[in-house]
Amino acid sequence: MTKRVAILISGGGSNMVALVRDMQSGDHPATPVLVLSNVPDAGGLAKAEALGVATAVVDHKPYGKDREAFEAEVTRVLEAANPDILCLAGFMRILTPDFMTRWGGKMLNIHPSLLPKYKGLHTHQRALEAGDAEHGCSVHEVTAELDGGPILGQARLQIATDDTADTLAARLLPLEHRLYPAVLRRFAVGDRTKVELR
Ligand code: GRF
Repeated sequence: MTKRVAILISGGGSNMVALVRDMQSGDHPATPVLVLSNVPDAGGLAKAEALGVATAVVDHKPYGKDREAFEAEVTRVLEAANPDILCLAGFMRILTPDFMTRWGGKMLNIHPSLLPKYKGLHTHQRALEAGDAEHGCSVHEVTAELDGGPILGQARLQIATDDTADTLAARLLPLEHRLYPAVLRRFAVGDRTKVELR
């Protein structure tokens, strides 16, 4: 049975595009049913519409600090699309344990570091400042611990001596676009074997 996938974004949505294109390439166990953004003018919304995927916006700003109310609206909109899987892709809101209760076990996220290293923000800069020889990205199951769930895939690259945070981010993004679709293909059929890309 084809799994229904909703993708949550906040920005340009390049990972969302990679996921949708792979699902639309045929012979895929999942199909995209919704792209939801918390940012009304996120660039990814137009890209999703151009790919023929339904979109929705739940602007977090009117909810202020009431995360629960924001997430209740997100859940209401998501439930209308009836997804089996949620893919967070550049989604920049921290989710509460209540949201995990509702959607736990069905959520993936891509994080631009070799978890468990560098949870949180500014991962490229932190890898450079640490003098790491390699960097990468991880796709993990989303749990109540920020960037802490089981790791389902990682892609690695060597840090170059002249890399900056920006060049590292730019060199990493194409690896993200290969990793996330590969993990989703397995996750959609219940295969949690870790994907390793170099
Ligand atoms: C990427 O670095 C991704 O790892 C992180 O958000 C950034 C932007 O992603 N989650 P996208 O282009 O919006 O998919």
